[in-house]
Amino acid sequence: MKLIISETINDSSELVAQKIISLVNSTKNPLLGLVTGGTVVPLYANLVKNYEQGKVSFSEIRTVNLDEYVGLDQKDHQSFAFFMNQHLFNKTNFNSSNIFLVDGTGQINSELERFDNFLTNNIIDLQLLGIGTNGHIGFNEPSSTFILPPHLVSLAQETINSNSHFFSEGEVMPTQAITMGIRDIMRAREVVLLAFGKAKANVIHRLFTETCVDPNLPCSILKLRDQVTIYIDRELATETGIEDCLSFTK
Ligand code: F6R
Repeated sequence: MKLIISETINDSSELVAQKIISLVNSTKNPLLGLVTGGTVVPLYANLVKNYEQGKVSFSEIRTVNLDEYVGLDQKDHQSFAFFMNQHLFNKTNFNSSNIFLVDGTGQINSELERFDNFLTNNIIDLQLLGIGTNGHIGFNEPSSTFILPPHLVSLAQETINSNSHFFSEGEVMPTQAITMGIRDIMRAREVVLLAFGKAKANVIHRLFTETCVDPNLPCSILKLRDQVTIYIDRELATETGIEDCLSFTK
């Protein structure tokens, strides 16, 4: 795992945006694995800015998102589909026929089958990941086993606590989601994980210092593959003291 520390979240987001743009400009119809959440808002804003400046076109890009809450319609403001439209798809020229999103209101088994078929038949060129404070990637929550294919998951209490601030009073946060499993995250040609701020310091410290691969820390599976780059900001790096306990490539 390669670790890249930038001074600010915007600097990290700029580096990752440039990486995506160079993939888009050098590969025919690449498949991007996308993620939602507060961490990637500045990254998507940066991609939109580059699109508006004519530096990149997304019309030929295929995308697949990691996960979706069960029970939320794509028009629901809290769905991940809505997030993607709001922050990226509707502000750029992604072609809707190239976008794969799980339907949170679909029949669960058929959505899982549709997701599995898509992922079995397509290889992700670049998978973006955020990380939960409990080490989840996608919504692969801490557990006694790694679950390989796409699956239905009951969200961990820590995830519910972390994400409930996105929901206003009167809105009920779903407690289940459909997520890409570990198999397809591991099959992606390249993985980029972003983590910013003090809240992620403990989990990033664990990721770099614990020596085993443990399904109770799902992100630890990333140690088993190459082509993984982790982008963090200075605040997180300082909080973890990560520079003192690691040798890494800047
Ligand atoms: C969301 C996802 C999650 C988030 C993680 C971090 O699609 O797969 O793993 O990346 O929960 O969320 P934020 O960025 O809101 O801290």
